[in-house]
Amino acid sequence: MKVTDFQSAMFFWFILLFIFYLLIYYRQKHGYWKKFGLKGPLPVPFLGTSYVYLRRPLHVVETELIQKYGQIVGMFEGAKPTLLVSDPEFIKTIALKEFHSFPQSFTFSSYKHPLEQLFPELIWGSKWKHSRGQITQCFTVAKLRKAFPMIEKCSDMCVKSLADEIQRCDAIEMKSFWFKYYCDTIFQFCLNLDAHVYQSRDNIIVEKMIDLSRPFIPAFIMNMFLPEWIMKTFHLSALDKKALDYLEKLVTHLIETRRLRKDERQTDVLNRLIAINETSSEQSTEIELVAAIVDLLFNGFETSSSLLAWCSWRLAFNQDVQDRLTKEIDSLNSLDYDSLLSAQYLDAVISESLRIDPPETHNERVCHTTYHHPETGIVIPAGSKVSMPIYAMHHNPDNFPDPEKFNPDRFLPDNRNAIKPFTYIPFGVGYRACLGTKYALLVSKMALAKLLQSYRFVVTPSTTIDLDYDWGSILLCADEINVGIEKRM
Ligand code: HEM
Repeated sequence: MKVTDFQSAMFFWFILLFIFYLLIYYRQKHGYWKKFGLKGPLPVPFLGTSYVYLRRPLHVVETELIQKYGQIVGMFEGAKPTLLVSDPEFIKTIALKEFHSFPQSFTFSSYKHPLEQLFPELIWGSKWKHSRGQITQCFTVAKLRKAFPMIEKCSDMCVKSLADEIQRCDAIEMKSFWFKYYCDTIFQFCLNLDAHVYQSRDNIIVEKMIDLSRPFIPAFIMNMFLPEWIMKTFHLSALDKKALDYLEKLVTHLIETRRLRKDERQTDVLNRLIAINETSSEQSTEIELVAAIVDLLFNGFETSSSLLAWCSWRLAFNQDVQDRLTKEIDSLNSLDYDSLLSAQYLDAVISESLRIDPPETHNERVCHTTYHHPETGIVIPAGSKVSMPIYAMHHNPDNFPDPEKFNPDRFLPDNRNAIKPFTYIPFGVGYRACLGTKYALLVSKMALAKLLQSYRFVVTPSTTIDLDYDWGSILLCADEINVGIEKRM
């Protein structure tokens, strides 16, 4: 045998052995959940079970997985075991009772922009606790009451902008329409800054916020099966780098200006955070403050605009619900803070909309210390992700009878108690639940009520019932949510 033949043969055997080793390695790793009797889709080398998410929306896949394999599904990201849990008691344990073992929320992508690394929703431990404590003080009922006139002004502007829009087309794309309103309110609430969302076509703030709202889907998907070092080497972040750079500069500039020219009268989140931080025993750095504000701006428009977009679409198809809601709004003496929050049917419509079309379809916790679940005997290894399929839980007939029916009555005070705890989780659950809940509800109720005082949502030829959902994101999105808007008689 010649030397080169010998080398080729060696190489061939080496490759064969390596493949054999990988197959054994993955077979052994992928047997993990079987030990606990858990079922799930067949894992394959390299991808694990992540291939099930390719080319179909996350919420559709998760609903099918739960129906097929039960309330706890054993999954794998590559070789790493992950769990999909829709059992309410298990969720309560992870998010509340055993929070110390599951302190981390979303992972998104293993590479993150330096600012994103400091986002309160992505950090954990004492830094998160400190930051959450500071931000919570900016979202109290008293602060929301103070912001109420600003919210009312923004909703008036939003409704006014409709007059022109309905002249131009038979239907309006709801996500872009509501996007402007939420962008307007969150910039005013956080930075006391007018983003001029209705005045200019080339509006840089709106442009950057739109870029930020479009996650880089390939990075999101690749994160499920590519090793961390590849994501980090190629800086594969899920969020738009230029948009984050722009917002970082903007907020840093505003912080510097505020420090130079102190104005105690400013009641926006930025001023409050600076003031709270100055008197705090454990001070946040400037970049941490910037990250907190940018995280709020990001959260403040994305999910909320999705809520009212879906709600408008549902109301167009459910004229009886819309009539009842309009009647309630007309019966209110004024749309002040207290009457708005006491409107029971309005609350029920928003709550049902959040159930049937939850803006975030999926939630996560990451296990930091190996956890043994006493009731099932399941051991969740440190580093594993536990996913909670919000959409699938909201559409499970055991939790909500006739789940595909848009029925706000489920959330009227007499019926609300019948909802099983930890099955309705549009704002997440436990210590890390959404801290913008009250703000999001107030801002959404205000705009919806203002709009329905003068207009109604209708179905037009471009309003489709079978929407093409986007895939590769945890948000419930469709390409276009077109709804007609008519002036009320
Ligand atoms: C309809 C609107 C909204 C929905 C459906 C929503 C939903 C969620 C969900 C599901 C989570 C994850 C909670 C968990 O891990 O258990 C979350 C977290 C969060 N949300 Fe919201 N959200 C909305 C609006 C807002 C607004 C308006 C803000 C701020 C202005 C906000 C700020 C946050 C923050 C900072 C977190 C991270 C909390 C933490 O990890 O401690 N959200 N939200």
